Amino acid sequence: MDRVCLGLHERYGDIVKVAGLMGRPDMVFVFDADLIEQVFRAEDALLPVRPSMPSLDAFKHGIRKDLFGDLAGVIAVHGPRWLEFRTRVQQVMLQPRTAKRYVGAIQDTAESFVTRIRKLRDSKGEVPADFVNEIHKWSLESIARVALDARLGCLDDAPPADTQALIDAVNTFFMNVGVLELKPPLWKIFPTPTWRAYIAALNDITTITSRYITRALEALQALGEDKKAELGNDASLLQRVLVGHDARTAHILAIDLFLVGIDTTSAALASALYQIARHPEEQETLHQEVARVLGRDGDVTAAALEDMPYLRAVLKEVLRMYPVVIGNGRTLTEDTVVAGYRIPKGTQIIFQHYVASNQERYFPAAGSFRPSRWLREESPQCPVHPFASLPFGYGRRMCIGRRFAELELHTVVAKMVQNFRLEFNHPPLPYRVHPMYMPHGPLKLTFHAR
Ligand code: HEM
Repeated sequence: MDRVCLGLHERYGDIVKVAGLMGRPDMVFVFDADLIEQVFRAEDALLPVRPSMPSLDAFKHGIRKDLFGDLAGVIAVHGPRWLEFRTRVQQVMLQPRTAKRYVGAIQDTAESFVTRIRKLRDSKGEVPADFVNEIHKWSLESIARVALDARLGCLDDAPPADTQALIDAVNTFFMNVGVLELKPPLWKIFPTPTWRAYIAALNDITTITSRYITRALEALQALGEDKKAELGNDASLLQRVLVGHDARTAHILAIDLFLVGIDTTSAALASALYQIARHPEEQETLHQEVARVLGRDGDVTAAALEDMPYLRAVLKEVLRMYPVVIGNGRTLTEDTVVAGYRIPKGTQIIFQHYVASNQERYFPAAGSFRPSRWLREESPQCPVHPFASLPFGYGRRMCIGRRFAELELHTVVAKMVQNFRLEFNHPPLPYRVHPMYMPHGPLKLTFHAR
């Protein structure tokens, strides 16, 4: 997919129409940061529609309308209903103090992952071929701390039964969503085996998260009104949503966070560890920074994270060269002129983030992994264009989990580099969209204890 998009840009230029694909409306790909900016800015006054996940739309608005009703969350929801739900939750989700409250929990989870890796390594320090599955468990554990206030124990040697069922359901969801979204939509005609497995997984996720939300709600009710008021800045995301709204809002939000907050973050971590392993010099610079701020065994804290600019630069560079969502989109809700072409309402505009953020005109030596380009003192001009690298999207619909994703990734990468020197002693892995853009194949990293 990445090669196809690069090829289309090379052959046809900054704007390309792709029409006649089975089961899809016409699409217009834009590769130029000025054009991406123009389309994104125009939506500021509108309700942005992101063309995504028809299979989830069918689940939320058809099969499980009983649960989701009219306020079905933010994923696969559009128009005033999307706005109403997003307005309910966005302030809490994007407040820096909400994310900061989780530093301890996220640090604990990262520590458990370090312990797990120590057990997984063979005598040479190499982890097994299915290491990405372990990364999924870390990601699921982290999101559960945020969305459910629960410690699931995913990284324990024997996770509890309903935790394992949730891990399995989320894995099944991952494995099937790509097939349903990227291949011809036969599931719209008859219930294919993939579709049936996908729906069963979504039902399991719904049932298990519901149990945790009920528990959190009971614990909150048991606190009494005065204690609830005392929580103040200490309140968790779930408590804030439960205090301000009903349990259904909290439940639907938790489901959305589970659906899009796990594989994105897993893919980003897989990519980051792989790139760090393949770039020993940059790894050494990162290690020096981590050792200076955290010492040999210090914990990650909010203050420590603010003192590690190179760590943030490493993650920015990974997501510039390998954005886990290589293209994002909007369905036009009005006829719009882009690059001199009148594009009719209903067309999907696809922002080609991967191609844009790998172009020389925006990032000199774009093919080189150079985290230092993001350090202000070294290159005050980076990025040359503010719309050239947008791994979390833009505007009113941008990623609502960004602060949590960054907290999780910065914390776990800092802990990995504090504890291990990473290597990858195998032929390079190709990157593929699967359904996130990440290294494809056995991620047999070597973790040497420091
Ligand atoms: C590296 C990790 C992640 C990346 C690269 C990422 C990227 C994205 C992108 C590109 C979008 C579309 C934005 C747009 O249309 O402008 C998005 C939306 C979204 N993300 Fe993330 N995401 C990540 C992690 C997370 C996490 C951890 C959560 C949950 C805690 C999350 C929750 C969401 C939600 C709910 C939306 C939909 C927002 C809406 O439509 O209103 N994401 N993300």
